[in-house]
Amino acid sequence: MTHEKPRSDEQALAGGSPVRTEPLPLEFPGVHYMDDREIEAVVSVLRARSPFRYYGMNLQKQVECLEAEFAGFLGVNHALAVTSGTGALHTALAALGVGPGHEVIVPAYLWVSVAAAVVNLGAIPVLADIDDTFCLDPSAVRRSITPRTRAVIMVHMSGAPGDVEAVRAVAREHGVYLLEDCAQCAGGSIHGKRVGTFGDMAVFSFQMNKNMTAGEGGCVVTNDRQLYRRAVACHDLGYARDDEGRLDTGDPELCLWGRGYRMDEIRAAILRVQLEKLPATIRAMRNSKYRIRQSLAPFEHVRLRRIIDPAGDTGCFLLTTYADAETAQAVKNALRAEGIVTFPQGVSNIRMTEWGLHLYYNNRSLVERKGLAFSLSENAGLARDYSKGACPVADSLFERSLVLAVPSCLTARDEDDIIRAFEKTLGSLH
Ligand SMILES: Cc1ncc(COP(=O)(O)O)c(C=O)c1O
Repeated sequence: MTHEKPRSDEQALAGGSPVRTEPLPLEFPGVHYMDDREIEAVVSVLRARSPFRYYGMNLQKQVECLEAEFAGFLGVNHALAVTSGTGALHTALAALGVGPGHEVIVPAYLWVSVAAAVVNLGAIPVLADIDDTFCLDPSAVRRSITPRTRAVIMVHMSGAPGDVEAVRAVAREHGVYLLEDCAQCAGGSIHGKRVGTFGDMAVFSFQMNKNMTAGEGGCVVTNDRQLYRRAVACHDLGYARDDEGRLDTGDPELCLWGRGYRMDEIRAAILRVQLEKLPATIRAMRNSKYRIRQSLAPFEHVRLRRIIDPAGDTGCFLLTTYADAETAQAVKNALRAEGIVTFPQGVSNIRMTEWGLHLYYNNRSLVERKGLAFSLSENAGLARDYSKGACPVADSLFERSLVLAVPSCLTARDEDDIIRAFEKTLGSLH
C-alpha cells in the first residue's frame, strides 16, 4: 500500500501548502517595546517646556541623565549623546584627530556612514576583509596597516560582536586608535564585557532599526577625558561649555570646529526608557535566534556565523551560509515560498547581495572615489580600489549567505514556522 505524503510536508515551491501566509513582524527591535512610558517621558519634557539640553526655563537634564545612565550601563567613564550614529562616527573620528594624510581601516561589511565619516574628514578609508564572524579579520587588519594609518574602525555587524580583542591587539602593537562602531550591537558583550568598552572610543546609533531607539539618535563613549572633551566640542560648536551651558572659548586646547550634532531633551527622555528596556529586548531576540540556530544544527548544508560569545549576541539577525550562490538563492526562494517574508520594508530572508549599502562595493561614492578627500595633495597615492573583488572573503560570504531579521516580538508560533520552513527546505537539499 502506498501512502500519499501529507500536503503540508511537501515544499511550497513544489505545490505543497506554505508553512505560513501571514508576513513575519517587522524587525525594529526597540519600537515593539514602546508604550505609555515613552509617551509620558516625552510629555514631561514638553510640560516643562524645556527641549534644549544646555539651558532653559525649567531644565530637566534628560540628556545629561541619559549620558550618565548609558555610561553606567556600559561601564565607561564618559558618554556624549548626539543626533545620529553617523554624527557619532564623524564626532569620534574628529576627536581622534583624523584628517588629511591619514588612513582609516574599515571592514568590507559595514554601513555607508562608516566610510562617509572618514572621507568627510579628508582622510582615506582602507578596506580590510572580514572572516566567518562577518566582522573585521584581525590578520587582514594587520596586513592593511601602513605608516599613514591613524585608526581602525571595528564594526560589530548584524547584532553580534566581532573579534575586537584580537583587533585591539593589532591596533595597540602598531600604535593606532581603535574606534568601535556598536550601532548594530547595543547591549552586546564578550564574556561579560560590553561592546563599546574595548576601544579608545566607541559609537552607537539609536535610529529606528537599532536595539534601542528614539527614531534617530546616537552616542559617543570613551574612558579618556581629553578625547571626551574634544568630542563634546566637535559635536557642538567647536568649543567647551561652562557650567551654565554657555560657550567658553577660552580653552586653547578646545578651539576646534563644531558640527551641530547636539541631542535634544525629548529624544533623550525616550532613550532613557528604551535603555531600561534594552536587556529585555535583547533577551527576546537572542532566545528566538538561538532556538532557530539550534534547530539548524543537524543540517549539514547550512553553516552558521561564528559567534564569539553567544551569551553576548544581541540576536537581531540570523546569518546562514551555504556552499555556493546557487544553493543560497534556492534556499531563499524556498523559504520565501513557505511564507518566511515580512512586509515590504522589512529584512526577512534576503540574500546578502541584496543588503545595499552594507556591502563596500555597493557604495558608489566610495567605488568612484567621490569627495574632496580623494583629490587632496596630502592623500596623493593613498586611494585604493574599492570595487567588487577588493575583499574576496567578504565577496564570497555575501554571495553565499542569507540574512534573516529576528524581530524582538516573535511568538513561539512564529519561531516554529521559521524552523519548520528551514526544515522543509534544508531537508530537501542534496
Ligand atoms: C554599523 C552602522 N554604523 C553607523 C550607522 C549610522 O547610524 P545612523 O543611522 O543613526 O546615522 C548605522 C546605521 O544604520 C550602522 O548600521
